[in-house]
Amino acid sequence: MAEVINVLELFSGVGGYHCALNELSKDSVKYSFNVKAAVDINEAANTVYKHNFQNTPLITKAIETVSEKFLRDLNTDLVVMSPPCQPFTRQGHKKDVDDQRCNGLQSVISYLERGILKPNWILLENVKGFDESEAFENYVKCLDFCGYQHRVEFLSPIDFGIPNARLRCYVLASKSSKRIQPLSSKMKFQTLNDCSLGSYLLPTESVPEEYYLKNETALKYLPVMDVVAKDSTHCMCFTKSYGRYYEGTGSLVLESNSEISQTSLTSTELKKYVTSCNAKLRRFTESEVLQLHCYPSWFEFPDSITMKQRYKLLGNGLNVLVVKELLLHLFGS
Ligand SMILES: C[S@@+](CC[C@H](N)C(=O)[O-])C[C@H]1O[C@@H](n2cnc3c(N)ncnc32)[C@H](O)[C@@H]1O
Repeated sequence: MAEVINVLELFSGVGGYHCALNELSKDSVKYSFNVKAAVDINEAANTVYKHNFQNTPLITKAIETVSEKFLRDLNTDLVVMSPPCQPFTRQGHKKDVDDQRCNGLQSVISYLERGILKPNWILLENVKGFDESEAFENYVKCLDFCGYQHRVEFLSPIDFGIPNARLRCYVLASKSSKRIQPLSSKMKFQTLNDCSLGSYLLPTESVPEEYYLKNETALKYLPVMDVVAKDSTHCMCFTKSYGRYYEGTGSLVLESNSEISQTSLTSTELKKYVTSCNAKLRRFTESEVLQLHCYPSWFEFPDSITMKQRYKLLGNGLNVLVVKELLLHLFGS
């Protein structure tokens, strides 16, 4: 019988980790993952989480205010977490530990140091840049103090054959005496399949009009946009501002006649078609972003969550397949 691993999902958002754990439970004969509790302060995120994981106790509180007795009594084997990334980004002014949004992670460090949480394994996800922060230093010191060995990995879905850039820093930690090995390049590419965007995009006739840009908007922002087509093998990382701003927030799709999409062209080359052939630009739909983030097909947004909220939540989220591979690696270590 599979060993049941009790999981605490912190900063749970819409439950990307939970999706990865469910997928892993399906594939693994050795382990079955039971998310005993999830914690997040954001009500929209929690509405989505609840909609998809009705039976998981979900606490709408800042982690620093959750009862220590409650946390202790969970007897957690595995903690998975994606603390807020704004303290480590340029847009967030890189205030690091002086940013209040770092308080959640600081309190998790304190729970670990004081033995309130004593998991055997921890997986943390954050942006590239976290690894250069004081918060990271504090976290690694805490892992050493508590007897964990750790490994830092930088991975993007592109490494797994998914045509979407989303470079993230992952810190794997384990109390096992065996060293956590690096992810070999063989493992990174074992899931490689058709790498073009075409298989992730809806047929043109199924894309609602609201996703298309007005001509004047397309022309105005074209210089700062990243444009992709069905044959592209890459699209930009979707941020929480996708749909509101055009620069650096995620790619736009060129909907065109088949002649254009036959060849793989750069963004600059594709942009010429917008001006010369009257081709139309559109945003990726939320369902396309979900697919690029490798969410299982049963995952959905409740109707009450607006399009803007969906993009925001997805921009904060993670890639389910990358996390599943990392968990597999951690549990194999
Ligand atoms: C990067 S997102 C996590 C995304 C998540 N892994 C997912 O799959 O959607 C960070 C989350 O932390 C939550 N958060 C921020 N500060 C928090 C705190 N102090 N306690 C609990 N949750 C917090 C935010 O509401 C946000 O949903």
